[in-house]
Amino acid sequence: MLAAPTISEEILDLKRDRRAILLAHHYQEPEIQEIADVVGDSLELARKALKYEGDVIAFCGVWFMAETAKVLNPTRIVVAPDQDAGCSLVDSCKADDVREYRRRNPDHVIVSYINTSVEVKAESDILCTSRNAVKIVNSIPREKTVLFLPDRNLGAWVQRETGRENMKIWQGSCIVHNTFPSRRLLDAKVRFPEAEVVAHPECPEAVLRHADFVGSTSAIIEHCAGSASREFIVMTESGVNYSLERAAPGKRFHYVANENCNCSECPFMRLNTLEKLRDALMNLTPRVELSPELMRRALVPLERMLAVG
Ligand code: 13P
Ligand code: SF4
Repeated sequence: MLAAPTISEEILDLKRDRRAILLAHHYQEPEIQEIADVVGDSLELARKALKYEGDVIAFCGVWFMAETAKVLNPTRIVVAPDQDAGCSLVDSCKADDVREYRRRNPDHVIVSYINTSVEVKAESDILCTSRNAVKIVNSIPREKTVLFLPDRNLGAWVQRETGRENMKIWQGSCIVHNTFPSRRLLDAKVRFPEAEVVAHPECPEAVLRHADFVGSTSAIIEHCAGSASREFIVMTESGVNYSLERAAPGKRFHYVANENCNCSECPFMRLNTLEKLRDALMNLTPRVELSPELMRRALVPLERMLAVG
């Protein structure tokens, strides 16, 4: 008797039948990353979504990433395993508040992190990710005042890196990175004195000041793979461990628990499961549906970002 197909096998069959590509963020569970066509950070996945010529994009990350894929490639069907996979940064910044800021400050340039709703993107002048934020802010004429939204830690890091004084920063934060306590990092440094500290710029300054390297998830992976160090304390979501071990076999990675869950996992990213992914590919829902007008407006700042790099 033939064994019943595993869920992963079902997904691979559905992916072929639907002419689908499976894009997964580094924070996804290993079993999702294993069958993904591409695993990457938010910028790399956006670029892949833009180029895809099949019928369906199945996005395993959080909802704003799936929305971004739809805006970049609107004639594809974009599905995601769970529509409730949100992001505390998206929740911290409402389009009405951004519109009001614009009304009061019409000459400011609004730079929005990609971790925003599509409505906020549509109100923005240019977008950025953690990978290109410094480059994007540096591309704006020095005399212009910038509003950076919504992540206060990323904004403050970009301000330090660019030395730009005329920069206002929204006060949103990531529930995962913002709650890594620096005292736990200091404890880890005592326990692993040989380890390099690598951190995502969504961490607070009290953490970043102890980091040897700061960068996006993919930049952290590239750094650890290329570094002469054999051991790292990784100040980001622990799902990245799967990609780290693939990219830097034999090296050791340590994680620091945050105050929220006493872990280093994003509860939104972890809503996605193989079962939900299979059902999304089978039923083509939850599906990203956006009005053409909203997509047209959100595409402008996205394309500006991709043109800068
Ligand atoms: P990356 O741009 O590094 O993928 O980060 C996205 C994110 O949500 C980090 O918490
Ligand atoms: Fe949002 Fe933080 Fe989760 Fe990234 S880790 S998706 S910023 S809540």
